[in-house]
Amino acid sequence: MEIKTYKNPETTAKAFADYLCEKQATANRINIALSGGSTPKLLFELLAKKYCENIEWNKFHFYWGDERCVPPTSGESNYGMTHEFLFQHIKIEEENIHRVFGENIPNEEALRYGQLITENLPSINGLPQFDLIILGLGEDGHTASIFPHQMELLTSKEVCEVAEHPTSGQKRITLTGSVISNAKEVCFLVTGQAKAEKVNEILNITGDCQLYPASYIKPTHGELVWYLDKAASGK
Ligand code: 6PG
Repeated sequence: MEIKTYKNPETTAKAFADYLCEKQATANRINIALSGGSTPKLLFELLAKKYCENIEWNKFHFYWGDERCVPPTSGESNYGMTHEFLFQHIKIEEENIHRVFGENIPNEEALRYGQLITENLPSINGLPQFDLIILGLGEDGHTASIFPHQMELLTSKEVCEVAEHPTSGQKRITLTGSVISNAKEVCFLVTGQAKAEKVNEILNITGDCQLYPASYIKPTHGELVWYLDKAASGK
């Protein structure tokens, strides 16, 4: 595991953008799963503003680690946020963007999306393998849409499952922990003082870390990298 710490959210996002730029230079195709949340949004804005010319976007096939069960036009949609801050500013083919159909019936969509990923990605250890998965960290220790009250989603044999937000009850489609940990590389992008306690417990294996889904994300044959700003790594 690698921990990279930067001054603030902007320099954290820039460091990851630089990494993506470097990684794509020597790749033919990168199957990447995106996250929602504030730090990825910062990353997308930066990529659109400063990197759109020096990245060959059609090398990427974009998927999502989780998506809210809402239409793509909803302000809640992770795809909608990515389209607004990144996709509409870059040259990327439609067929390189594999959004979750948040407007579909959740159980049917979890199946459809899981089958799409299984068909499109190489299979390692009997599970589809992403080249790169970006994750955020919730203040309750959730990641993707695996929340503390649904720890079984970490070890489900499925590729995708229907999750439920603990307070709003909003249905989500999420990759399972098994698929996330099967990736070649998993990068957490976590910024802000509000996450410092959870980051401390997870990285130092202390406190209530066993209650947090993010603690269980351990790539079996891949890399795990934490991109943190100073505030999130404060403890
Ligand atoms: C989502 C994200 C979620 C997010 C965390 C952190 O769909 O909201 O996938 O897992 O990464 O909630 O979000 P913030 O970075 O905005 O705190």
